[in-house]
Amino acid sequence: MSSYPAVRLRRTRASAWSRRLHAETTLTPADLIWPLFITAGDAEEPIASLPGVSRWPVAGIVARAREARDLGIPCIALFPNTPPDRKSERGDEALNPDNLMCRAIRALKDAVPEVGVLTDVALDPYTTHGHDGLVDAAGYVVNDTTAEMLVAQALNQAAAGADVIAPSDMMDGRVGLIRAALEADGHHNVQIMAYAAKYASGFYGPFRDAVGSRGLLKGDKKTYQMDAANAQEALREVALDLAEGADSVMVKPGLPYLDIVVRVRERFGVPVFAYQVSGEYAMIEASVAAGAGERDALVLETLLAFKRAGCSGVLTYHAAHAARLLGA
Ligand code: PBG
Repeated sequence: MSSYPAVRLRRTRASAWSRRLHAETTLTPADLIWPLFITAGDAEEPIASLPGVSRWPVAGIVARAREARDLGIPCIALFPNTPPDRKSERGDEALNPDNLMCRAIRALKDAVPEVGVLTDVALDPYTTHGHDGLVDAAGYVVNDTTAEMLVAQALNQAAAGADVIAPSDMMDGRVGLIRAALEADGHHNVQIMAYAAKYASGFYGPFRDAVGSRGLLKGDKKTYQMDAANAQEALREVALDLAEGADSVMVKPGLPYLDIVVRVRERFGVPVFAYQVSGEYAMIEASVAAGAGERDALVLETLLAFKRAGCSGVLTYHAAHAARLLGA
């Protein structure tokens, strides 16, 4: 008998205990990575386009890390808002061992060493033009000299104590170069989570406000970030980053690219993470503010969708809220 009425799929949905028993996917605080913005100022700075998210001074970042630990969130991701007078054409502040990022990493590893620290490798928080790399006279972001800078930036972060290096720049070849440099420097256990399939997206706007690059950005990032039309190319990006030594790969943005997550997971069987980016967070918050949706339901449903698609974990600005809902 394989048809109605012998078969009624509603039977297993009829009560809460049964729905729990039949759940194919679970979401726990251990699936979450919490992105945090650092300010050089000495007070919390709310970010208007990311309601509910603030930049924090280093001490505030340490407090957030304690909160993450208490909520069962294993890892935080750091992004600095570099003071304008420390930004430059080449983004050299990225290499300063005493920059905001490195000060935060050291404070975190000193105070809350049990929480993983993931650091973004790309030059956009440090450049006066808002691009992720070095720009030539024609405005083109140059690959190979940028990659050299990124290697130095990654070593700088690793020396400060970063646990996971996450290159978000989309330069060709940088994962292999960073891996080789980390090995040569004795950082054998510093992981690389490659932003492998990162798309040129309209969903990054609030993030650029948060790191102070939005007003500065000249043009767009289409000559290095991926075209939203492409899926096969994402698989090539992932294959290359894995061959170069990435420990895990990321797909970004998140929800609009869940098809990519599924393909990567099925093809490679490696740890895949997704970044539910700033514009996705803002979309949920706008929906809540407009009375169109309910925050808790939207947060849990979208995060579960990432798990169902095959993600090992999700970077989300809703991490602490979600972990609280999950009752850690
Ligand atoms: C920078 C970087 C960006 C994000 C993470 N790292 C922005 C960009 O590429 O312009 C976006 C994250 C978000 O929107 O939440 N390399």
